[in-house]
Amino acid sequence: MKSAIVYYTFGGSTKKEAERLSEELGAPVFRVMERHKRGLLGAFIPGCILAMRRRSVPIQPLEADLNEYDRIIIGCPVWAGYPAPAFNAVAELLPPEKQVEIFLCSGSGNSSKSEQGTRELIERKGCVLSSYRDVITAASAGKMKGGS
Ligand SMILES: Cc1cc2nc3c(=O)[nH]c(=O)nc-3n(C[C@H](O)[C@H](O)[C@H](O)COP(=O)(O)O)c2cc1C
Repeated sequence: MKSAIVYYTFGGSTKKEAERLSEELGAPVFRVMERHKRGLLGAFIPGCILAMRRRSVPIQPLEADLNEYDRIIIGCPVWAGYPAPAFNAVAELLPPEKQVEIFLCSGSGNSSKSEQGTRELIERKGCVLSSYRDVITAASAGKMKGGS
């Protein structure tokens, strides 16, 4: 099965987990960059609001053609209990009938309030969600400088 890991990171912890997985699975890893650089304030406002509304954001063209893969592993931080908006941008790009796995990085390791909706989002794309897991990370939001 051909797998790809696609992740968004703001502070770097999702990148770490994506790269760990990449080594474990021998799968290529692709970083998602928002088109407009986001600072810490922009992560909270409007980032969290967009996340809670499951709104997408413009992203730079993905280096991967997702059609080429059977399994697409998406990694993303949790913002305000929801996947950060870049997750929704990746979900929009999913070709149907793919096997999808999700890992969500957060300080609490708890994305339960949005889990059901996230599962439905993937299923609405005609994909099969075969794994959903939370990853507890050490970095707290207050220590982040921001990324993309
Ligand atoms: C804007 C913002 C909102 C966050 N909201 C939550 C949250 O609701 N629950 C939580 O457990 N952690 C929250 N965090 C912490 C991050 O989810 C956590 O540090 C994650 O590992 C960051 O991943 P990254 O380093 O790849 O960006 C938030 C961080 C930021 C910047």
